[in-house]
Amino acid sequence: MSNPPASWWRTAAIYQIYVRSFADGDGDGVGDLAGLRRRLPYLRDLGVDALWLTPWYVSPMADAGYDVADYRDIDPLFGTLAEAERLIGDVHAHGLRILIDLVPNHCSDRHPWFREALAGKPARDRFWFRPGRGAAGELPPNDWRSYFGGPAWTRVADGEWYLHMFAPEQPDLNWEHPEVRAEFLDILRFWLDRGVDGFRVDVAHGLVKKDGLPDVGEAPDPADLPYQDRAGVHEIYRSWREVADAYEGERVFVGEVWLPTPAQFARYLRPGELHSAFNFEFLVGAWEPGPVREVIAATLATHAAVGAPPTWVLSNHDTIRHVTRYGRAETAFDMGDKRHGAPSDLELGVRRARAAALLTLALPGGVYVYQGDELGLAEVEDLPEELLQDPAWERSGRTDRGRDGCRVPLPWSGDEPPFGFSPPDAAAGPWLPQPPAWKDLTAEAQSADPHSMLTLYRTALALRRALPAPQTLTWLDTEPGVVAFARGALTCVVNFTSGPVRLPAHTEVLLASAPVADGLPPDACAWLRR
Ligand code: NOJ
Repeated sequence: MSNPPASWWRTAAIYQIYVRSFADGDGDGVGDLAGLRRRLPYLRDLGVDALWLTPWYVSPMADAGYDVADYRDIDPLFGTLAEAERLIGDVHAHGLRILIDLVPNHCSDRHPWFREALAGKPARDRFWFRPGRGAAGELPPNDWRSYFGGPAWTRVADGEWYLHMFAPEQPDLNWEHPEVRAEFLDILRFWLDRGVDGFRVDVAHGLVKKDGLPDVGEAPDPADLPYQDRAGVHEIYRSWREVADAYEGERVFVGEVWLPTPAQFARYLRPGELHSAFNFEFLVGAWEPGPVREVIAATLATHAAVGAPPTWVLSNHDTIRHVTRYGRAETAFDMGDKRHGAPSDLELGVRRARAAALLTLALPGGVYVYQGDELGLAEVEDLPEELLQDPAWERSGRTDRGRDGCRVPLPWSGDEPPFGFSPPDAAAGPWLPQPPAWKDLTAEAQSADPHSMLTLYRTALALRRALPAPQTLTWLDTEPGVVAFARGALTCVVNFTSGPVRLPAHTEVLLASAPVADGLPPDACAWLRR
């Protein structure tokens, strides 16, 4: 790439590719690298700066690829290593960058290290094997619970137990073991040598466990849990940063850091650690003026304190799509929400999602777009139970429908499934069924419509690049229920009230999420030139 801008990652718009649902090149109903390569012009034209791909590694797919059996090769479902190398080249040729997903907290139970560990010590030391409690060791070694439900321990044939904070097929690695540390430094180099621009770090807060693996107990302090955010995790990121910094072209780490306090979160973004992290506080917050303004202000303060760029994210492959969340009476999102589908007014959700898109794209820092956000897709809440694939469904005793509803393959074109997701002669239908109503939401249909969500995203992303805007903002005084700020010549105003409101002083309406003839309508956002 010629003349890359300094610190591209501080302001990048990064598009999340959920590989198995983006585009299917070989007709097996599952998205793959061939499909993605063909769709790169769409991403270039959308106007994003970089792509983040969910795991593409060899995997038995017990958790959609977050159970890695070989960190240095591509799963045949998605393609080959040679194809990944071609993809990296193509991404760069389209003027984009590529981040890949690194899964260091756990691997697959099919990883050679775990196979070796099952055979006995000392290979077990790379994981957390412990004897059980109870007279015959029949009880798990401690009271930790898996994030997917049930105990975080599984017993093996000889009676010992191993730790897995996620599914039993995802044994946690022991980061106290020097070989684990060395292995991941080598994996980083393997992919950096192949030209990736960085890594999204899965469960970045979870790698180090508290000495002795003590019980959590009845009423734990959420800021002091034995299985996350232990002080020792930071030296791991400092060592990774040294590796990445030795490469040309600003290679970066984006952390998946879910923690209860901003102070804990910010520590991951100190100089010499991760470059940035997803702002889940913003994602889970209510779509209401007070909370929105508060979370923006808090985000800016938290990041400024450590010199890191703020980021903004509305949805990802683990959450309920925000069109659906924002159409509900309760717009705040609780990850513990078991996805039973509270009623949602999707027209309202789409109006708010349009406003939220403009709000996030107007804020300083970096922004994430989850595939399908730009098409205004809603959560698919009526997937038949027998098709659900998320391990959370079975692990929760079929009470949590899991995350499949935000992972349905994208609609590209045409009037019926697979909507161009797979080639016309595909041998199989999409791995999750697409709603017939998506015929109106295909990229093709929306491209031609000046009022579509896709057109809004394209226009906003282009303006975001073109408008010089300082990386700070100034809040503007407004009437109650309105949030407005200025960044250089740009004023951004969002109306959370139930009636139209007057626009602040301006010379030009640059872009609006809804027509602004009689003021700014409810649930709308406008970008104004001062
Ligand atoms: C976070 C990922 O985003 C999620 O999809 C996955 O299930 C867990 N980490 C475990 O790897």
